[in-house]
Amino acid sequence: MTPPVVEMSGVGRVFAGPPRVEAVRDVDLTISQGEYLSIIGPSGSGKSTLLHLLGLLDRPSHGVYRLDGVDVSTLSERRRTRVRGERIGFVFQAFHLLPHRSVLENVELSMIYLRVPRRERTARAVATLERVGLGHRLDFDPITLSGGERQRVAIARALVAQPSLLLADEPTGNLDSGNAASVLALFDELHAEGLTLAVITHDDGVSGRAQRRVRIVDGVMADVEAEVVA
Ligand SMILES: Nc1ncnc2c1ncn2[C@@H]1O[C@H](COP(=O)(O)OP(=O)(O)OP(=O)(O)O)[C@@H](O)[C@H]1O
Ligand SMILES: [Mg+2]
Repeated sequence: MTPPVVEMSGVGRVFAGPPRVEAVRDVDLTISQGEYLSIIGPSGSGKSTLLHLLGLLDRPSHGVYRLDGVDVSTLSERRRTRVRGERIGFVFQAFHLLPHRSVLENVELSMIYLRVPRRERTARAVATLERVGLGHRLDFDPITLSGGERQRVAIARALVAQPSLLLADEPTGNLDSGNAASVLALFDELHAEGLTLAVITHDDGVSGRAQRRVRIVDGVMADVEAEVVA
C-alpha cells in the first residue's frame, strides 16, 4: 500500500521572538495521494508557516512530518533541499519568474539540480508548457506576458519535475477573475490526472474547488466540514 503523501503528527512551529509566536500548533494532517486540499484561515493564522513546513522550506519545532512515508523532520539541510527539489512544486501569488530569461529557460532551470540531461530538460519543459497552454510562448520574456500566463509558467515550472505534491500560496491573488478562473480550471484538470495539491487561500471561491477544506485559526487546524457538523 502506498503511504499518504503527507502525514504530519503533532507538528508545531514556534518563532522564538521576542515576542514568541506559536505560529502552528500541534497539527495532525494527512494528505492522500491524488487529494486536492485547501487550507483557509485569516491573516496571520499560520497558513504560510504551514506551507513552508509542508514544502520543506522550514522545519518543525516539534512533531513528525512524513513525506511519501519518509520522516523528513530530521533530515540534514542538504538532503531536505534535495527532497524538496524532487518532490515538491511551489506556486506563489507573486509568480517569481526570472526576468530576461525565456519562458522555456524558466521552466528548464528548475530541473538543473535533478541531474536531468540537457536535451531531456528541454523536451520535458516544452511538453509541460504545452500542457498548460503556453506552447506558443516558449521564447517570450516573462515580463511581456499577462498575469495569467505568468502564473501558468510558474505552474509548469512547479510541475516539470513531476512532484509528489503541488503547494500553492494564494495562487490567484494577483489575477483578475478571468485569469483566476483559468488557473483554477487547470488545477481541476491536474487533480483529475492524479496530482496531489494543497492550496492556501483567503478566497472561498478558490477553496471551494478543493475536495477537502481545512481551516487554521491561531495556528490550530480543524476540518471545515467537521465544524459544520459540530
Ligand atoms: N519568521 C518569522 N518570525 C517570527 N514570527 C513569524 C515569522 N513568520 C511568521 N511569523 C508569525 O507567525 C504568525 C503566522 O504567520 P503566517 O505568515 O503563517 O500567517 P498567514 O496565515 O500566512 O497570513 P496571511 O494570510 O496574511 O499571509 C504571524 O503572527 C506571524 O507574525
Ligand atoms: Mg501567508
